[in-house]
Amino acid sequence: MTNADLEKLVDTTDEWITTRTGIKERRIARDMATSDMAVEACKRAMEMAETKGEEIDVLVAATVTPDYKLPSLGCVIQEKLSLPNAVAFDVVSACTGFINGLTIANAYIETGSYKKIMVVGVEKLSTFVNYRDRNTCILFGDGAGAAIFAPSHNGRGVQSTFMKSDGSMREMLWSKSGGAAFPVTEEFNFDGTDKVMMNGSDLFKVAVKEMGNAATEVMQKAGVDSSEISIIIPHQANIRIIEALAKRLKLDMNKVFLNIEKYGNTSAASVPLALDEANRQGRINEGDYVLMVAFGGGLIWGSALIKW
Ligand code: UT7
Repeated sequence: MTNADLEKLVDTTDEWITTRTGIKERRIARDMATSDMAVEACKRAMEMAETKGEEIDVLVAATVTPDYKLPSLGCVIQEKLSLPNAVAFDVVSACTGFINGLTIANAYIETGSYKKIMVVGVEKLSTFVNYRDRNTCILFGDGAGAAIFAPSHNGRGVQSTFMKSDGSMREMLWSKSGGAAFPVTEEFNFDGTDKVMMNGSDLFKVAVKEMGNAATEVMQKAGVDSSEISIIIPHQANIRIIEALAKRLKLDMNKVFLNIEKYGNTSAASVPLALDEANRQGRINEGDYVLMVAFGGGLIWGSALIKW
């Protein structure tokens, strides 16, 4: 879906969207459920890691757009992918979902609880976006990205992680109706409150501040200076947020991986999609410090530093 397509739906322009967000296109999954996208991403991760379904101990599905309210998306993916020895479950941390999943995977590995953990960040936000609201519909797209975590003994792998949330700001980015607090009943008038609602400008300020703090936190924890970071994989919400973050961290923009132009904001899929593209494009080499940082609805934010 291009900016020109959106010009036909709401009062907006390609120029406004491009200059304010950096987004030109987003992908819309028309004939696929969220689980179908996740299965595709997981298969490619398993192929790259030369891992069979039977070897996966845990599947963490990070999403706010599961196929069903019950059961979890993780269990649907487990069946479609054939992961007979796994426990599968979801994490609901919006755009920070993949980093939250990574943090869980890392903790399981550090404690020796499980050995092979697949984390998939996946969203079908097109089912959740109000295409009458120009404040939000121009931002979001569908996508999936997956990674497999396993123990390493040579100093490579996850060096440090950081997670923080503040529920008092939850109404900056939320979907009010359709849950147990405000159920969709026969009287519900479909006024858009069951879709994504956002206070963009307030969110913008918190995003820059907290993504900056989260990134600094993982570097300090690992004793790594920002000059040592080879590549930063930020959540792709807005090019201006990413530029402000790079400035705050004193990192040149050529160290920042960007694909927002093609996909828009894909929430939990954003970081793994960008990580995978950077990797397949040869932008990440063995021994590189890779810094991932995300921020989203909750509000919840987090970061991870990996030695590749
Ligand atoms: O993934 C989770 C994290 N997400 C974020 O952190 C998102 C953070 N927020 C943002 O990315 C930006 O705030 C937006 C891209 C959502 C909006 O950009 P902005 O520069 O903050 O614009 P604004 O909301 O302050 O609106 C400026 C003007 C308003 O018009 P007036 O009141 O100045 O006349 C809006 O009505 O732009 C108008 N506007 C639009 N105009 C054309 C809002 N959306 C549009 C649009 N097309 N699509």
